[in-house]
Amino acid sequence: MANYPTPHINATPDDFAKTVLMPGDPLRAKFIAENFLEEAVQVNSVRNMLGFTGFYKGERVSVMGSGMGIPSIGIYSYELFNFFGVENIIRVGTAGGMSEKVKIRDVVIGMGACTNSNFVKQFHLPGDYAPIASWELLEACVNKAKELGLNYNVGNVLSSDTFYGDDGCLPDELRGNALWAKMGVLAVEMESAALYMNAARAGKNALGIFTVSDHLITGEATSAEERQNSFTDMMKLALETATVL
Ligand code: HPA
Repeated sequence: MANYPTPHINATPDDFAKTVLMPGDPLRAKFIAENFLEEAVQVNSVRNMLGFTGFYKGERVSVMGSGMGIPSIGIYSYELFNFFGVENIIRVGTAGGMSEKVKIRDVVIGMGACTNSNFVKQFHLPGDYAPIASWELLEACVNKAKELGLNYNVGNVLSSDTFYGDDGCLPDELRGNALWAKMGVLAVEMESAALYMNAARAGKNALGIFTVSDHLITGEATSAEERQNSFTDMMKLALETATVL
């Protein structure tokens, strides 16, 4: 049993629902609580990593920021799974398109998460681990995406430790993005691999859902308004998925 508050969350297990939606930005968590949840109450304030619990269509759901990058989501998802009794975490974020299969504003559902991070080393595995989403969440989410008529893609994403890479000096075909894309990786973000590994280790469930905010091959980017609209679609998808868990 953990002592409460934990180092990063000043709440108790009762404060969280069994399913937590995690955007990277804590202000996004506040936006979701204010615009999509009923009777939302704030449950975390440590480091301004705002967390809320409320109701969506009568189901109790929590939403909390993860921060950016693998170490940050690694900490929050570890505490939620292991100390707060959370069963399901659905990351909701943006990603950069890496494949011509995905279009700007599409939803990408992360079946697997490749990574260039060292996070997996802590598990001392005698080989390469394949971080994957939980089938239960993935199946529920894909069914809901169909019901909602969204443009969605399911596949591998890359959880990168760097946003500003320094491989511009290499020939195009040897740059990281091109090599990952050659292996069918759809989009790049910065958190899901750690979330999937923490879920696996804790015997819990995780899924990452993304909207494509910019495209690394076509160079397209979304306006603030477009980002907001595709974010709303993704949020509905995540919340609807939460209702069937
Ligand atoms: N890299 C990493 N994470 C991202 C990107 C990107 O290009 N776009 C949105 N999230």
